[in-house]
Amino acid sequence: MLLEARGIIMAFGAFRAVDGADLDVAEGEIIGLIGPNGAGKSTFFNCLAGDAQPTAGTIRFRGQDVTRATPEAHARLGMARSFQVPVTFEDMTVAQNVMVGAFLRHGHRAAARRVADEVLAFTGLDQLADTPARSLGTPGRKRLEIARALATEPQLLLLDEALAGLTPAEVRLAIALVRRIKARGITIVIVEHIMEVILSLAERAVVFHQGKVIAAGAPRAVVDDPAVVTAYLGHHMKRVRRGGVG
Ligand SMILES: Nc1ncnc2c1ncn2[C@@H]1O[C@H](COP(=O)(O)OP(=O)(O)O)[C@@H](O)[C@H]1O
Ligand SMILES: [Mg+2]
Repeated sequence: MLLEARGIIMAFGAFRAVDGADLDVAEGEIIGLIGPNGAGKSTFFNCLAGDAQPTAGTIRFRGQDVTRATPEAHARLGMARSFQVPVTFEDMTVAQNVMVGAFLRHGHRAAARRVADEVLAFTGLDQLADTPARSLGTPGRKRLEIARALATEPQLLLLDEALAGLTPAEVRLAIALVRRIKARGITIVIVEHIMEVILSLAERAVVFHQGKVIAAGAPRAVVDDPAVVTAYLGHHMKRVRRGGVG
């Protein structure tokens, strides 16, 4: 396994945002992590990526125990994540933002710039390289978030609602980008609310509810699981199913 999370608990006082979650991620797969708002998905990502230290549980990445490791140590080992709310250096250009990621493995500016240029081309941001990040709209910011993560040259990429707020046309472009990332050999865990995205991208879906994994399996089967539909995903899911997607 590339990543093994076992019995992860993240408590805030008496409240457990993550309450005993397990996740196995095999090399090369795309996992769709779904569940209602407040289910604990982002908090779980925080634990996986070292941005929060879980109250209990263990996380192994590439065979190493990273449960208490820093975000930088995770990144060095090959784990990158995008944030649900993009973390952009507003006064820097798009290229400079991507270079922040590239500096993880490249001490010299020229080398970091080469990596950044390659990632900018790969993510379709090359035309915006010299644009100040502050002038980007939502799609550009979401893409930049992915680009900065890719510039750290990860083996595992955690995408937290990287497609939220995009138009259907932009979502299609983003899906194509995620496919190309996978084709590079990068393993992906993607949190996404749009079921069409999960159905078309993910090989396995994992459903979070109240900090626990309540269902996992083939996306179609998970989407059709009545317990998941009625109890946890409600009307949005039903609408998608009626639409005959998949
Ligand atoms: N730092 C925090 N302190 C207290 N509660 C938090 C904190 N972070 C998240 N939570 C709570 O944990 C729950 C899960 O949040 P989150 O992980 O953001 O869910 P999701 O990403 O699935 O929407 C929510 O009820 C949220 O309010
Ligand atoms: Mg979230």
